[in-house]
Amino acid sequence: MALNINTIRAQFPALSLSDDGKARIYLDNPGGTQVPRQVLERMERYLIHTNANHGGPFRTSIESDKVLEEAHQAMADFLNANSANEIVFGANMTSLTFAVSRSIGRLLKRRDTILLTRMDHDGNVGPWLHLAEDLGLKVRWLDFDLETYEYDPVQAADLFRDGAVKLAAINYASNCLGTINNVKALTEIAHQSEALVFVDAVQYVPHGPTDVQDVGCDFLVCSPYKFFGPHQGVLWGKAELLEKLEAYKVRPADNTAPGKFETGTQLHEGQAGTLGVLEYLEKIGETMGAEYHGLFPDFCGRRKNLHAAMLAIQDYEQTLSKRLIAGLQNLSGVDVKGISNQNDFSRRVPTVSFTVKNQNPEEIANKLAAENIYVWHGHNYALEAIRQMGLEESGGVVRIGPVHYNTIEEIDRTLEVLKTCW
Ligand SMILES: Cc1ncc(COP(=O)(O)O)c(C=O)c1O
Repeated sequence: MALNINTIRAQFPALSLSDDGKARIYLDNPGGTQVPRQVLERMERYLIHTNANHGGPFRTSIESDKVLEEAHQAMADFLNANSANEIVFGANMTSLTFAVSRSIGRLLKRRDTILLTRMDHDGNVGPWLHLAEDLGLKVRWLDFDLETYEYDPVQAADLFRDGAVKLAAINYASNCLGTINNVKALTEIAHQSEALVFVDAVQYVPHGPTDVQDVGCDFLVCSPYKFFGPHQGVLWGKAELLEKLEAYKVRPADNTAPGKFETGTQLHEGQAGTLGVLEYLEKIGETMGAEYHGLFPDFCGRRKNLHAAMLAIQDYEQTLSKRLIAGLQNLSGVDVKGISNQNDFSRRVPTVSFTVKNQNPEEIANKLAAENIYVWHGHNYALEAIRQMGLEESGGVVRIGPVHYNTIEEIDRTLEVLKTCW
């Protein structure tokens, strides 16, 4: 295992905080992560030295534009995009998806079919349901298997067989079940019937290397605040599609991508902070990712380091998943809602949802909160997944979501407190 957890934790000021003598244990990460110093420094530097609007001839605006360009290029390296012009920044994944879904809708016609997936967060469901209502589209659903917590590839292929599906909005990793879906295979199936593929990667990107060219999809969205950056969203789209789509924009704004989709004045300090988190991850790849570099022979420089960092993170996180899931399974009445066999952990992120017989998820989260342990409960916007599991009425699930800065000791402490919760 390559990660040096002490070196990592020292870079996140929030991780050393405690309240009333109780250390904070952040296991609320699927809802949003803490940030390393590089993010804070980048944001501060931006706001002190280069704070300006876009496109002016004076020093601050010129410097500001350089930061924005660098942030686009760094995100392109992180996602292995072909070009920085394929990276669109925005307020968050949901807002970007609402906006671009309107543009994509102009390629669809009445009675066309779109495919949505039951595991997904509503950010990749709601915008498409609105579009379907507005345009008179038909909606098809890909359900997941309630025993394996995965999609069945045969069932998926059946949904595309008649060629009716024109757009598939699918999810990479589930924010509820933790399953990593085979988005590459789903994309191949969808492309055989010439459907566009829009991937929600918000919950995958913090946990593994993301390669849009390898996945082969048409669009992919993620959120820097879920991968240790500021509150931002990022959309990647294939250059030719972004150029082709008509953007909902004001007339004086750019007519080319990414500017035509980055409406209004952007959160420049957020882009600076996103650059900061990518510098942090690049450093991890450089200093702790050497053993993974050989797995990315086609990449060099920052791109190689970023991808190596994410593999090092993925390996470390599997140790957390193992400890957490084994510990939960030892507690009476616990039902882990996701892949639980250790041999299959490469197909899950460490986000673990569970229910406890005759117990209310909110009460469990409250008891943990009283010990300064932060976890989420309820449906966490994975409305369809919670409904498919029949858990809406009973308050959903408790969700524990470690990331690479969490420790085995924090998992053990959480399990200790859980033992006293019911
Ligand atoms: C899988 C998934 N998709 C989309 C979103 C929405 O992201 P944002 O808050 O950036 O709109 C979330 C947020 O939790 C998520 O987990």
